[in-house]
Amino acid sequence: MGKDTLTVTDNRTGATYDLPITDGTIRAMDFRQMRASDDDFGLMTYDPAFTNTACCRSAVTYIDGDRGILEYRGYPIDQLAGQCTFLEVAYLVVYGELPTQAQLKQWTKEITSHTYVHENMKKFTESFNHDANPMGMLIGSMGALSTFYPDAANIADPESRELQTRRLIAKMPTIAAYAYRHNRGLPYVYPDNDLSYVGNFLSMLWKIAEPKYKPNPVLERALDVLFILHADHEQNCSANAMRAVGSSRVDTFSATAAAAAGLYGPLHGGANAAVLRMLTEIGDKKRVPEYVQRFKSGKGLLMGFGHRVYKNYDPRAKIVKETADAVFKVTGKNPLLDIALELERIALEDEYFVQRKLYPNVDFYSGIIYQAMGLPVDMFPVLFAIGRAPGWMAQWREMVVDKEQKIARPLQIYVGERQRRVTPIAKRTARGK
Ligand code: CMC
Repeated sequence: MGKDTLTVTDNRTGATYDLPITDGTIRAMDFRQMRASDDDFGLMTYDPAFTNTACCRSAVTYIDGDRGILEYRGYPIDQLAGQCTFLEVAYLVVYGELPTQAQLKQWTKEITSHTYVHENMKKFTESFNHDANPMGMLIGSMGALSTFYPDAANIADPESRELQTRRLIAKMPTIAAYAYRHNRGLPYVYPDNDLSYVGNFLSMLWKIAEPKYKPNPVLERALDVLFILHADHEQNCSANAMRAVGSSRVDTFSATAAAAAGLYGPLHGGANAAVLRMLTEIGDKKRVPEYVQRFKSGKGLLMGFGHRVYKNYDPRAKIVKETADAVFKVTGKNPLLDIALELERIALEDEYFVQRKLYPNVDFYSGIIYQAMGLPVDMFPVLFAIGRAPGWMAQWREMVVDKEQKIARPLQIYVGERQRRVTPIAKRTARGK
């Protein structure tokens, strides 16, 4: 039986070190003791984009990327999407256990009682340009929330953390719906607390003059499932932003603004919108081979394909595809589906994609559903953000109480100039750009 250690010989000095291996991991700080000379800083590890670095211990989400497994708190994603509501899953992600009937009732009440936002948040949203991107509005609104709730700065207080968790999950749909209505020049709709979490969101989006909005149950359930699929995904770009920015001990809402900004990018939560734009540009099944060729030659990415962790079919993408069938029965088929299916078929047979283990990810089909439901492309990342709110909260809550965590502060390999002298401006010659 081998030992759980790694023996390293530093060939610069001939010194040998035994480093403990725990959980299949060695501690980067163990390398610092390896010095080539007395004034040497010590050996660092270099890992741009953190491709092989664990930054925390977490009990929220388990992913086995090779086998295409995703579990929240140990429960497989297909069971959660098949049997639970989004609020049940949000409770699970945040607290670690599925709620009992009584706990769910209480949690639903607590979330529901925080769905309203301060009237000044309406004025704040009104101040954006009529065509402002809703994700930009959401990010701005998250920062603004920190000014309405200065108590959120009290992150060491467990009760305050509970309150901010509920506020954030509850207010996210309200703010998202305000952004949507603002783009359309429609009056904002107040939350209807008799409806479900998703039903209320749909009401805030689409209610016009009817006294009571009645959400279509199939669409309500479909969006609920999509939110479940997005609830957490361990240490991705936005979760990492939430933890890194939160590690400065800033308030919950400012850290969430940073997480949402991370999500906005086309390589992360913005991919669902980018997929739709790509499919629209392709426009016809017949043009798929031509586009696949382009992606292979490095002219753009096949959006909605590939993943840092999954080197197999993203288990969420399978469920999204099933959800699409249910939605299309109500809305009629989105014509872009045929292009997406053809893209998937060709890409999955193509050596370029096979070799690199590039499969459809969650974003490949979600946008097609959102569009069929009547949601504009710019809103897609916002929908992702609503679903991800419990995950950001769970990751942040773990980080705040983790005794091993400190302010996130990576090192660098300095490659710039040193010890230069300042020349008076009149004597300088243009250099560089
Ligand atoms: N289309 C074409 N080639 C690709 C793609 C793609 N979508 N994704 C990766 N590759 C190639 C990449 O060029 C590289 O090729 P080579 O080895 O010849 O240089 C190889 O595959 C490995 O890719 P990588 O860039 O090292 O992978 P990564 O782990 O850094 O990036 C990714 C992961 C998701 C950012 C990337 O696959 C991508 O940009 N995909 C498209 C955007 C997308 O769909 N993002 C949503 C991710 S899932 C939802 C979420 O969590 O946000």
